[in-house]
Amino acid sequence: MDKLSELKEEYIKKYSDRTLVFGEGKTDGGIMLVGEAPGGEEEKLKRPFVGKAGKNLDEFIELAGLKREDLYISNVVKFRPTSISPKTGRTINRTPTREEIDEFVPLLKEEISTFKPNIIVTLGNVPLKAVTGDYQLSIGECHGQVIQKDNLKIYPLYHPASVIYNRSLKSVYSEDVKKLKYNI
Ligand code: URA
Repeated sequence: MDKLSELKEEYIKKYSDRTLVFGEGKTDGGIMLVGEAPGGEEEKLKRPFVGKAGKNLDEFIELAGLKREDLYISNVVKFRPTSISPKTGRTINRTPTREEIDEFVPLLKEEISTFKPNIIVTLGNVPLKAVTGDYQLSIGECHGQVIQKDNLKIYPLYHPASVIYNRSLKSVYSEDVKKLKYNI
């Protein structure tokens, strides 16, 4: 078994009471897309970026002139972080905590060193910080600009979901996505 598969087995054992959603897609060094953590639909189907988030991602992929098969798609945290909505009493998604992020960074690093992507597209603040290891960075300051760090080429984008909540980001986001092809 390779190192990545061994590491995955360790996480599966450690988190035997949770559903883990691992990365999937093209593994031979192209574009790696990294989100924050799976949501409800992803947890159900055990696949990253399906459901509503997947629809947003498909828009992104089209705008960038790419195909889903061209990408390796993963998340920093591999389980769904949840809380209970005080308003509705329902289970809702929440941003992963720093502890949860730290817990999964070794797996993300192993994915990166195994697949050796040419470029890593981070979606939102969580993967930007986790991939660069720089927790002072913020997406508002560095979206759409290549960051070179430790032999990695990182292209930070806003999270596609944040564009839904904040329509004013839509045009900035679209421009950043279109610029991606000049940086691949
Ligand atoms: N949001 C993410 O960041 N990742 C997913 O897989 C789904 C929603």
